[in-house]
Amino acid sequence: MKVLVIGSGGREHCLAWKISKSTLVDKVYVAPGNSGMADVAECVDIGPEDFKALAAFCQKEGISLTVVGPEAPLVKGIADYFQDRGLVIFGPRKKAAMLEGSKVFTKRISNKYGIPTAEGVEFGQEDYEKARDHLNGLDDKSYPKVLKADGLAAGKGVIIAGNKKEALSCLDDLLLRKKFGDASKKVIIEDFLSGYEVSLLCLYDGESVLPMDLAQDYKRIYDGDKGPNTGGMGSYSPVPFVSEALKEKILEKIIYPTCRGLHSENIRYQGVLYAGLMICEHEPYLLEYNVRFGDPETQAILPRLKEDIVPYLLDTTKGTLSKKNMVWEDSRGVCAVLASKGYPKSSSRGDIIEGLDGHGLEDILIFHSGTRMDGGRLVTDGGRVLGVVGKAETFTSARKKVYSAIEKIRFSGMQFRKDIALRAEEA
Ligand code: AMP
Ligand code: GLY
Repeated sequence: MKVLVIGSGGREHCLAWKISKSTLVDKVYVAPGNSGMADVAECVDIGPEDFKALAAFCQKEGISLTVVGPEAPLVKGIADYFQDRGLVIFGPRKKAAMLEGSKVFTKRISNKYGIPTAEGVEFGQEDYEKARDHLNGLDDKSYPKVLKADGLAAGKGVIIAGNKKEALSCLDDLLLRKKFGDASKKVIIEDFLSGYEVSLLCLYDGESVLPMDLAQDYKRIYDGDKGPNTGGMGSYSPVPFVSEALKEKILEKIIYPTCRGLHSENIRYQGVLYAGLMICEHEPYLLEYNVRFGDPETQAILPRLKEDIVPYLLDTTKGTLSKKNMVWEDSRGVCAVLASKGYPKSSSRGDIIEGLDGHGLEDILIFHSGTRMDGGRLVTDGGRVLGVVGKAETFTSARKKVYSAIEKIRFSGMQFRKDIALRAEEA
């Protein structure tokens, strides 16, 4: 069969790579993809939100399965569009994708179905004065507070305000100056939770939940979690300090009640249900849901899956997930992202990338995010450029492999974190 992956980042390269290994699959396409994916897939020059052209391509080429990488097309209803035309697509329909598309929706579901999450209050643009009064009424000890734009804001819609002044100015940005357009027509002001974060990605077909191994990602640009947030500078999987008992608690307190809640709301969900969680003194709290694979978590998780992923993806679309467990290698996966000069404020394009061939290391995978070919040479083409993934029996040797491979790779202004999975190695 033929499979189409939608998107163009490292996550999509990893998905295409894993799908290309399936014995069921003859050919993988990626739309739009990037030239670094040519090793596993053919790129098709159609944007992820051009539903009409994507569906026409699938019909013409006889694509049996489409897998959606990024959230925006899901939130805009690509699954509805495809399914209404009889095309098989992996990813939730528009109504279900609200779990990522609206933080207000998710907060309401959490409160209604008793899912532990930070306590929060929602305010619309018409409630601007009320929101100011709310912030003004808090004493200094109540800070930091977290302000969240309701809708999709390219990962920038969450602001942690250290004090009242910052919170009020951030509120003005969101509600008055509509910093994120319609996405900040509503905001949530919630309590700050402290603890450590983990990501749990599950396959969910509307009936059965199949959790993957846990992962952790690194959002800040610099070592030691310093500097501004990014799209993700690295990840690792599994997470040694989350016990089986804690994972079970996450399922019992967060994932299953969410699934039952969606049922009660008559919302059928099929796809990846990705919970971003804060663990506070051994108790899990939901920070957010994503309705897709994580980037860069996917790059650390999927290479460790022992089995073919395609039957899982197909079963999810059909509501026939029956297995209780996915079979994982007993290995440790580490992904370090190489970013371009200026990232995350800006990104440098056109810098020549060298040293990708001949690192000579086994179990190293290189996934392309922001690269393109220019006159026969590979150059940078975005903020996050490459993800270098290593697998080994221990985190120590997986990290060694990743960082030895990185030593060989060069481009002007290359940035990366040197502490990816260090805390797992020390655990
Ligand atoms: P979200 O998009 O809701 O996951 O937020 C992005 C990031 O902001 C999370 O990964 C956390 O690092 C941080 N964050 C979000 N909500 C909270 C909260 N209530 N307390 C502390 N940090 C938070
Ligand atoms: N790693 C965070 C995300 O995929 O949203």
